[in-house]
Amino acid sequence: MTTTATLPQLQCESDVGIATVPLASEGAFASWQGDIPERFRTLGGPELVERVREARAALGQRAVVLGHHYQREDIIQFADRRGDSFDLARYAASHPESEYIVFCGVHFMAEAADVLSAPHQQVVLPNLAAGCSMADMAAQPDVLGAWRELAAEFGGTEEIIPVTYMNSAAALKSFCGERGGIVCTSSNAGRVLAWALERGRRIFFFPDQHLGRNTAHAMGIPEREVSLWNWRLPSGSRGGLSTDELRRSRIILWEGHCSVHQRFSLTQVERARAQHAGVRVVVHPECRAEVVRHADAVGSTAYIARYVEEAPAGAVLAVGTEINLVSRLAKENPDKTVFCLDPVVCPCSTMYRVHPAYLAWVMEELAEGRVVNRVQVPEQQKEHARVALQRMLQLA
Ligand code: 13P
Ligand code: SF4
Repeated sequence: MTTTATLPQLQCESDVGIATVPLASEGAFASWQGDIPERFRTLGGPELVERVREARAALGQRAVVLGHHYQREDIIQFADRRGDSFDLARYAASHPESEYIVFCGVHFMAEAADVLSAPHQQVVLPNLAAGCSMADMAAQPDVLGAWRELAAEFGGTEEIIPVTYMNSAAALKSFCGERGGIVCTSSNAGRVLAWALERGRRIFFFPDQHLGRNTAHAMGIPEREVSLWNWRLPSGSRGGLSTDELRRSRIILWEGHCSVHQRFSLTQVERARAQHAGVRVVVHPECRAEVVRHADAVGSTAYIARYVEEAPAGAVLAVGTEINLVSRLAKENPDKTVFCLDPVVCPCSTMYRVHPAYLAWVMEELAEGRVVNRVQVPEQQKEHARVALQRMLQLA
């Protein structure tokens, strides 16, 4: 049996789990939510665990803790439900019994839970600075500007269906809902794009170019019918696309990416195959096209977890996704060799911002009847964002 600890390419602390240090000792704390009460900054791991447990017990059924697969070990241990972003959204939509949904994930996930949950439920994100750099690449004014340029090019937008990846602000989900569009996640992008192409000649897809391109490829859409809209260009540049490129596009992709997944490369896939006979490569669809096309399997975080769990004993699996999930899968599948494709990969820095000190803080406040760090989507966005999310949930 080989374990992660004995694989030569695994070297950094995150490969074998990250120790809980007090918030005050976290090097990157300056970029996190800073207004946490002083008393939580110096608490160490064991004390934090104890305090979260006590608050959890005091809250009982009144709270449910949801944990995305990329959450660190010292957080995921408290999750009543773990999942990918689709599963957690569906859970929030169908479990009105808890008054509070404590979402251990990132901001767009908490927003989706707020949109989908019942009016009496309140969603709390332990650290409000836990965002998503990919979601931030699609700012609402930029998307609206691009939409107007597309309208000018095509003489209207009747034939264009806007599709937003779950990893986007609620304002963009609302934008899609209002214009006959829809949301997708990494677990249903193929079904969603097929739905959209039944209703329009073209899709405007944001923010992840890689998920869009990989899905289009899997659907058999030729590369020349997929174009890339460069949102960094000055307005009026039509995303850097010519009339011809726009007119032959069935899918117009926003030039966004995930900095964690964009690190995975074809060289890493080839190295894994050269070094481990019979290795199976499984990756997330946010990886570049050449990585996905050379992998054995591709899917959401829940799919990846299932793929590893269902592999036979003795299997060797190289995984292209965030390191907290890879390390957990390695630990939970000791009869298999599970390692990360990238030898120096770091955790998703925003997921990592959900430190146990924040969880202890928000849970203790809830136990005292006070809600801090509530994520509340403005009512004017909720209605159409719900339409776009429900269209996706109905397709599943
Ligand atoms: P999943 O929907 O596959 O959980 O992915 C979310 C995410 O942010 C991947 O980077
Ligand atoms: Fe966003 Fe990438 Fe982190 Fe997922 S892994 S939450 S896409 S930055």
